[in-house]
Amino acid sequence: MSLQLGDTAPDFTQDSSAGTIHFHEWAGDGWAVLFSHPKDFTPVCTTELGMVAKLKPEFDKRGVKVIGLSVDAVSNHEGWAKDIEETQGAALNFPLIADGDRKVSDLYGMIHPNADNTMTVRSVFIIGPDKKVKLTLTYPASTGRNFQEILRVIDSLQLTAGYKVATPVDWKNGEDCIIVPAVSNEEAKTLFPKGFEEIKPYLRKTPQPNL
Ligand code: BEZ
Repeated sequence: MSLQLGDTAPDFTQDSSAGTIHFHEWAGDGWAVLFSHPKDFTPVCTTELGMVAKLKPEFDKRGVKVIGLSVDAVSNHEGWAKDIEETQGAALNFPLIADGDRKVSDLYGMIHPNADNTMTVRSVFIIGPDKKVKLTLTYPASTGRNFQEILRVIDSLQLTAGYKVATPVDWKNGEDCIIVPAVSNEEAKTLFPKGFEEIKPYLRKTPQPNL
């Protein structure tokens, strides 16, 4: 069975472009994003890794560590890193796991044999400080991911971990939130001192509470 939301992210020890990674120890007590790439020296992956390198300050700002993976050796990662810097204008500034024996890929269900038996699909796992899986995404090899969307989800996950709100369609940091249905109007008056608008009894909006 594949990893599901709320499951503990499996721990592992594996080589990477930044030396041996003991995953839980590496993640520490913060948030982490683990994402896979089908193969080294492939075009879409090259653009994705360049983008994550450019966005690293945004992940840092949110206290989130990022780590990539592909089923190639560290020596390949090193050669590829030079290409990424040359073509994308950003040097790899996070570890890339070298999962040649597919240990991590199998643990996390990143190989989908009916799509491709040798390469990983494009998986994303967002892992909370409690080491639980908070989000999974699976894209095919042919479609590059949108890492601005990953940042947007992190903003929502971090907000909703601390407040009794959910975030509506296309929400972005700073916009109004939705009060979760389990909160009564009485309780909402205390929890959300900025006030709230009741559009329907089940649809109540409040300004983002952590700003
Ligand atoms: C790519 O990263 O460009 C890619 C990898 C595998 C299949 C197709 C595209």
